[in-house]
Amino acid sequence: MLDEKLEELLQDMSIEEKVGQLVQLDGSYFEEDALITGNMAKNGEGRNFPIFLAGSTLGLSGAKDLKKIQKDQMERHPHHIPMLFMLDVIHGYRTVFPCPLGQGASFQPKLVKECAEVAAREAAVSGIHVVFSPMADLVRDARWGRVMESTGEDSYLNGIMAKAMVKGYQGKNPGDKMKVGACVKHFAGYGAPVAGREYYNVELSEYTMREYYLPAYKKAVEAGCEMVMSAFHTWNGIPCSGNRWLLEDILRKEMNFKGVLISDWGAVSEMTAHGFCENNKVAARTAIEAGLDIDMCANAYAEYLVDLIKNGEVEIKLLDHAVMRVLRLKNRLGLFENPYKDADSEGEMRVILCDEHRDKAREAVRKSMVLLKNEEVHNEKALPLKNEKIAFIGPYVKNEDMDSSWAVNGDPRDQISIQDAALERWSEGEVFFARGCTLLDNKTTGAKYFYEENDEYFETKNQSLLEEAMETAKKADTVVLCLGEHRLQSGEASSRAQIKLPKIQLNLLNNIAWTGIKIITLIFSGRPLELEEVLKYSNAVFMVWMPGTEGGHGIMDVLVGDHNPSGKLPMSIPYNGGQLPISYDQYSTGRPRMGLQKGEYTTGYLDVPNEPLFSFGYGLSYTDFEISKPYISSVYMRQNESIKVSAKVKNTGDRQGTETLQLYIQDMTASRVRPLRQLKGFCQVELKPGEEKEVLFDITEEMLSFHRADGTYGSEAGLFKVWINNSSNVGEGVIFELKEGKNGNVQRREYA
Ligand code: BGC
Repeated sequence: MLDEKLEELLQDMSIEEKVGQLVQLDGSYFEEDALITGNMAKNGEGRNFPIFLAGSTLGLSGAKDLKKIQKDQMERHPHHIPMLFMLDVIHGYRTVFPCPLGQGASFQPKLVKECAEVAAREAAVSGIHVVFSPMADLVRDARWGRVMESTGEDSYLNGIMAKAMVKGYQGKNPGDKMKVGACVKHFAGYGAPVAGREYYNVELSEYTMREYYLPAYKKAVEAGCEMVMSAFHTWNGIPCSGNRWLLEDILRKEMNFKGVLISDWGAVSEMTAHGFCENNKVAARTAIEAGLDIDMCANAYAEYLVDLIKNGEVEIKLLDHAVMRVLRLKNRLGLFENPYKDADSEGEMRVILCDEHRDKAREAVRKSMVLLKNEEVHNEKALPLKNEKIAFIGPYVKNEDMDSSWAVNGDPRDQISIQDAALERWSEGEVFFARGCTLLDNKTTGAKYFYEENDEYFETKNQSLLEEAMETAKKADTVVLCLGEHRLQSGEASSRAQIKLPKIQLNLLNNIAWTGIKIITLIFSGRPLELEEVLKYSNAVFMVWMPGTEGGHGIMDVLVGDHNPSGKLPMSIPYNGGQLPISYDQYSTGRPRMGLQKGEYTTGYLDVPNEPLFSFGYGLSYTDFEISKPYISSVYMRQNESIKVSAKVKNTGDRQGTETLQLYIQDMTASRVRPLRQLKGFCQVELKPGEEKEVLFDITEEMLSFHRADGTYGSEAGLFKVWINNSSNVGEGVIFELKEGKNGNVQRREYA
């Protein structure tokens, strides 16, 4: 439809109809037979608002139901405006991929894009128009449960991955066949609640927000994402959903976002609970004045916005602008021509969980796994598995769901467990299985959220599971221990003060370690956990995240060595929770310290190093790589020029492998103190044994730019150090000089 037609439509709509476009309802407003009924009557608000005026809904899926709802809605709607169907498709629809943190570990934006393409196909054929993904929130505190939904602690990596997801979901145009609109969230800085406590305040300086937290959302906006979701928390004391400066000035003006802005669930009325608005009427006015278009499920717009407009308390032009943005989105999705878009019941049977999608999920599992340790046992590396008897022991062998809490359409019955995958490769008698222990017991902190059984149940159960596990282990040469978090221990509202494995699982590990059998431990988890004890007693350790539908297959491909692992940590793993928040890009301070030193007044702790146990970017392979010192094309760089930096990487081991070369830069002196290293680029090379290749990066002025002390953005003249290596904390750097900073910002200091 032409834009003028949309304008005409808008002019013809009543205020009630316009407000309706800004009201999002959850699926429970629709009866089971998928018919729209009556007036809204939930949460005490929006009572008199007719459901059929609502512009969008969330949480429903399935071609048949959604077509029926759409038809019914359009018949009743005075202007027959189609409804938007939105859903949380976070890491796959029905074919569930590794959680985003695992996808981040692949360091493969192409793969991440392909996963989003699969998710878009399955969602689109099921009638969905917009997915609430990517989550571009930067995360540095593993206590926060939603770190699993992020691609990690680095804003450059997050930006690349957010862009890849947007492109995967939307393609060239979200209206194209089997494409959906993407909604980047949670604007802004939701990943940094104080002390990792869910929904809590975010205390970030404007500099830190701009420098680290905003860039990934910006990348998603630049990639053309159709929607942005505002966050629940307060920043600078103001809830994000009512923060005009954040939503209008930064998002719409600075980032040039032209799409639809939606609140998070109930966030408009939560401004009342925050103590920011006296009541939900004020909250509705505050939100629309801040530039928020759709009220997701708070019903504050439904209840109050019509009156606010009619009484002149809110300008009609604000309403018109917001409605127009929603109509334009519907138009870009092609809904005025085809309100059902790709919804197709027969297509669902063909597309969902098809072999191609499962294969992609399996590949994503293989590439997300991060090998943390692989020591030699009897002069041979513990992994890959040898031709020997193997016992798979632990709650994740087959008893636990490997999707995350954010796989809303995932079905555990579709999953290939470790046991299923092992039995496809070995016969009974060659491999053995035991559960070992319950995933949690009621001594695990927070377990009351998951279990109702009493102490006696767990004690008796776990005693017999342990005995069975010990008997099973005795039959084998190697034990593969499958341990981890409960899938609901991470995700929304799942912050944890202690990021430990449950004692019951460590007890299993300890007991098996006493037998002296080789132990390979797999950690299923949505966040980094404390792993010192696991490392001590295991000969090899893999992070496998929450791997999803094809978990068993993908993991087995790597364990047996059909595929060489190449994943790298997207989040540092701390020694313990007391180090949180932590990230690789630390500052020096005036009293720098590396490692543990005694009796010095230097920055750090008495009991743990400043550095994490495993730093961002770390991950082993079954082969070894040698990386040369970087070589730079010039020790000087001038404004608007670039220089090249290269390194040679050689596979010195005996199997083919892929290495991720990471480019880090330090601005050694600047108008604001800069971190010791920052990721500015990465690439992967695949090498045969003995093969050597050169990797080359351009260093551009943009890479040297930052938010300067005078409030401007640009580079500053001076010395820079650059590294190319395979983790954030290794390698030798080389120095070059930028002769003149951007925008005439000349050298602040003379270097001899
Ligand atoms: C979450 C969002 C999600 C929304 C809709 C909220 O609770 O914070 O990430 O998209 O619910 O389900």
